[in-house]
Amino acid sequence: MTNQIKRIGVLTSGGDCAGLNAVIRAVVYRATLHYGWEVYGIIDGTDGLAYRPVRYKKLTIDDFSNPWLRLGGTMLGTVNSGVPFNAKMIKDFSDATKELGIDAFVVIGGDGSMSMVSRLCRDAGVKMVGAPKTIDNDTPITEHSVGFSTARDVCVEALDRLNATASSHHRVMILEVMGRDAGHIALHSAIAGGADVCLLPEIPYTLEGVISKLKQVHEQGRSHALVVVAEGVKTPEGTSVQVAHASDDVRYGGIGQYLSARINKECDDFQTRVTVLGHIQRGGTPSSYDRLMATVFGSKAVDLIAEGRTDRMVAWKDGQLIDVALEEVTGVGTKHVNPDDDLVKAARDVGIYVGKETK
Ligand code: F6P
Repeated sequence: MTNQIKRIGVLTSGGDCAGLNAVIRAVVYRATLHYGWEVYGIIDGTDGLAYRPVRYKKLTIDDFSNPWLRLGGTMLGTVNSGVPFNAKMIKDFSDATKELGIDAFVVIGGDGSMSMVSRLCRDAGVKMVGAPKTIDNDTPITEHSVGFSTARDVCVEALDRLNATASSHHRVMILEVMGRDAGHIALHSAIAGGADVCLLPEIPYTLEGVISKLKQVHEQGRSHALVVVAEGVKTPEGTSVQVAHASDDVRYGGIGQYLSARINKECDDFQTRVTVLGHIQRGGTPSSYDRLMATVFGSKAVDLIAEGRTDRMVAWKDGQLIDVALEEVTGVGTKHVNPDDDLVKAARDVGIYVGKETK
């Protein structure tokens, strides 16, 4: 199989995050230095293959004399449009792949992107291997997706900073973090950042529970507190809080402000203030852990192509680098926080209100 491959494509798809360039770098190093293949970086994800002329850049290790390993974002660009499949998309992808002479793709994306591109690849008769990335860390099977560690660090740093000003002003600081329907960013950062309340989409909570925790903090003699809320958390009554964009593309956002108003109304022990971290979680210098994961994922993805083991995703599980069939990852839904997870227990053990206990 190895000798049938001459040229591979690499693309980033979906929302960006820190560590993508480190994956691309590992792909280029392994493919060119070890296998002698050419690597074409596709510009702006699958959109680059829909443009005419096709938008790509031939990548060599010389491209990495710049410090891409250390830089957030993606040197190739990406799209997060969620445009549904259509016949033109399939034909454009297939034609472009043939025109460029690409034998296989490394797709750096979340489960949604991998599902979409694997379908395009199947129609085009080209192989692919996926490398998981998303700050949300909600890709099934893998314990780590590139970008998550950096996003978590950003949130923890934000909590460290908020704690100082919360203490000076005797306030409750509410930090709204990303993650869509998954609470991994919120849970990890609440524990590491010493929050008092952590609300996740996966665990129901009550306003009374939140307020009672804040009052308890006050009674214990602390005049400030930290609340972490995941953007996908619903109101205590179960309504989803979203921001409508002009394009009707609905995004999460606003639960922090909503809770702030509700807490203020019912509890005058503290003033509340809200910080929405937003895309700050996606940018910046990748953490060392994200660089490590990016490097092992990128290089392993190339090896899988060389071994002819495609339609697979590289993953990190039980401290080991593994690979799994794409169908085990796509279409099985989001990897949520398990309410019985040790981390949820640990959060409760250190006094964090994480919503209602199920047991
Ligand atoms: O999936 C990653 C993510 O950053 C989510 O946490 C967030 O809800 C969403 O993307 C934001 O998407 P966009 O960059 O398109 O606004």
